[in-house]
Amino acid sequence: MTIPEPKSFLVKSFGCQMNVYDGERMTELLEAEGMIQAVDGAEADLVILNTCHIREKAAEKVYSDIGRLMKRGHSPAPMIAVAGCVAQAEGEEIVRRAPGVDIVVGPQAYHHLPALVRKAARGEAALDTAMPLLSKFGALPARRRQGPSAFLTVQEGCDKFCTYCVVPYTRGAEISRPFAAILDEAEALVDAGAKEITLLGQNVNAWRDGEGRGLDDLIRALDRLPGLARIRYTTSHPADMSEGLIRAHAEVEKLMPYLHLPVQSGSDRVLKAMNRSHDAASYLRILERVRAARPGIAISGDFIVGFPGESDAEFEETLRIVAAVNYAQAFSFKYSPRPGTPAAEMEDQIPADLMDERLQRLQALLGAQQLAFNQATVGRRTEVLLERPGRKPGQKVGKTPWLQSVHLETDAAIGDMVEVELLSAGPNSLAGAELVKEAA
Ligand code: 5AD
Ligand code: SF4
Repeated sequence: MTIPEPKSFLVKSFGCQMNVYDGERMTELLEAEGMIQAVDGAEADLVILNTCHIREKAAEKVYSDIGRLMKRGHSPAPMIAVAGCVAQAEGEEIVRRAPGVDIVVGPQAYHHLPALVRKAARGEAALDTAMPLLSKFGALPARRRQGPSAFLTVQEGCDKFCTYCVVPYTRGAEISRPFAAILDEAEALVDAGAKEITLLGQNVNAWRDGEGRGLDDLIRALDRLPGLARIRYTTSHPADMSEGLIRAHAEVEKLMPYLHLPVQSGSDRVLKAMNRSHDAASYLRILERVRAARPGIAISGDFIVGFPGESDAEFEETLRIVAAVNYAQAFSFKYSPRPGTPAAEMEDQIPADLMDERLQRLQALLGAQQLAFNQATVGRRTEVLLERPGRKPGQKVGKTPWLQSVHLETDAAIGDMVEVELLSAGPNSLAGAELVKEAA
């Protein structure tokens, strides 16, 4: 059955920042085709679910979202595209289980969306989960419309094969975009108003090119871009934390004092079973060097509790490493078996109630550390990049160099960098007052 080609669309991205980036690029692509971004999913002729497959029930959630979209009463029913990692992992299975889905498109193939939309409108099967690595970047329109803080994917995929993780299967092998293409995109972002760029990759610090350049060289090149005020990068693996990158934290002023460096567990036995290439001691040594390079740097991390076979004593080791590091921020999850990964086949899966209890204890400790970090910054004077309006009139919300959210009253515009005194702190944000520059 043929259906009219959609005129409006909405992309809903789930999961990591790389998906957010892909969602932005899909939006730019469809707008370049003359389609209009809908404000509300209910009004969109085409809804794209840009999915995440990292933890359990992701696929189930997608199927229930599809069911809800079909019932929305949009007439005719909207065209539905499933993109992202669930699309890559499930492929045709999605259309078998949810016949309402018109398009299935993987993370390496979304530059073909316009052609897939036309195919779907003709009533033909529109499935593309090919993995022509990096070729999408050359086929996408130039970057446009950006807020003050922009994402830029520089590296995709992962060769580390942690035994719990689906990423090596959904995003493929580690691959780095070329240096010049990244600088071009960064310049376009700055021209479009970006003051801050966050370099993204599943293993962003594994970025390298054929000429022996590493992420630190990329950061130093961005540092020379006039108009760019702040540089960040995420997510990093301890194995790729090079001396040069650590030195960049000491030497590059635009590189913000924040490092997301997941450890996952504090137990060497569990780390080995996870196929992480570091142990607790080597992880702590890296952080010592990073902190020596950039005193006061905010450290953040990821944790998994209840990995198969994790004993009480091993979980206690995770609490101990958290106590030793003192995190400014962290993300912690219950282990969930991902089909096709080695850990899903391991014996001794941990019961749900024990995982709940461990997660609660870990989060209580991490939450207390985050609050303490925020409180320790109260009284400081610092720059805040204004990113969005606040809830109250006259209020705006911005970020400190340590990635804390700050609410303040100011007449300055979104995208401005303002001098702020931090006045009070909660677990998730701070309140600040703008410091008025004295006339010279
Ligand atoms: N179960 C629970 N958490 C996971 N993560 C990745 N795979 C799993 C899994 N199977 C977490 C890790 C990773 C973050 C992005 O998600 O902590 O760093
Ligand atoms: Fe989700 Fe990981 Fe895919 Fe990002 S890379 S969308 S977190 S599965």
